[in-house]
Amino acid sequence: MDDLKSKYLTLIADAGDESGLEELRVQALGKKGEISLQMRELGKMTPQERQTAGPALNALKDEINSALIAKKSALGDAALDERLRGEWLDVTLPARDRPVGSIHPITQVTEEVTAIFADMGFSVAEGPQIESDWYNFDALNIPGHHPARAEMDTFYTHRADGDDRPPHVLRTHTSPVQIRSLEANGAPIRIICPGRVYRADYDQTHTPMFHQVEGLAIDKDISMANLKWVLEEFVKAFFEVDDVELRFRASHFPFTEPSAEVDIRCSWEGGTLKVGEGDDWLEILGSGMVHPKVLQAAGVDPSVYQGFAFGVGIDRIAMLKYGIPDLRAFFDSDLRWLRHYGFRSLDVPTLHGGLSK
Ligand code: DAH
Repeated sequence: MDDLKSKYLTLIADAGDESGLEELRVQALGKKGEISLQMRELGKMTPQERQTAGPALNALKDEINSALIAKKSALGDAALDERLRGEWLDVTLPARDRPVGSIHPITQVTEEVTAIFADMGFSVAEGPQIESDWYNFDALNIPGHHPARAEMDTFYTHRADGDDRPPHVLRTHTSPVQIRSLEANGAPIRIICPGRVYRADYDQTHTPMFHQVEGLAIDKDISMANLKWVLEEFVKAFFEVDDVELRFRASHFPFTEPSAEVDIRCSWEGGTLKVGEGDDWLEILGSGMVHPKVLQAAGVDPSVYQGFAFGVGIDRIAMLKYGIPDLRAFFDSDLRWLRHYGFRSLDVPTLHGGLSK
């Protein structure tokens, strides 16, 4: 019996798979298995012999059985491990060396601008690109006869014959988001509104679709001085220069009073643009104190609230900062251009991490 025991325990321990194990079970404990045959011999024994052989055989049978069960589950575990190893996927593998795609300069600049204004407490608001002419014009104090409507080269949508409501427009600026945000949230408010705008125009510095970011700050005690400080902080952070000189030039917009256009001191020496030095001035944005009629149109009481607004051309400041000479290239989808001017997709601009590493 000891021989049988050590023989089967060794065979079981060495079994390589479940079918080999099943063969061993039949060989030992099956109907004609070695141990079963021994059990049959019990009948021929004397009662005394049976008394010792019986329990010993039963114990042997139990031991072999347990060894078979234990080995079976060990083989099952090993098979599962093996399968898991085979199916293992290393999701931590580094990305390919050359990024497949890149962040478009417009997206990059929009994120830079957002990071700067977020730091000054502005949140981001959005509005529709297909706009009613009330939001795009009337509410901004640009009535039907106003020359600004013609100046803006507006795209109009088509109304069905017989429908004499005014057509919708592709918004010509982000200023209508001022009205929508004030209507939705009231004053006080501090927002920027980046987005696409449309005008029928096409040359080196104009494309029919381009981008603006609108700014709006309304409260009880906001003045032109706050506007100047905010814009100076913005320009310093955006162009990453400490010494910038801004020139506020009196101007006119229907939706602000007074209005100012802002120029930045720069030089074009050697064909490259340097911000903060030189004798040239470059216009970068329009701004002013929000006109009382605009506040009124948006449901805000102009005898209680006042504030400033501004509108910056995103494409324009992207060209300036990154030395991109032709606006049209932004929208040509030329892969060589995108690889050259694009940004790495994992570098998110922040004020502490750097805007444009
Ligand atoms: N909406 C103007 C444009 O597209 C830009 C602008 C000027 C926006 C003055 C403003 C502002 O908010 O105050 O030309």
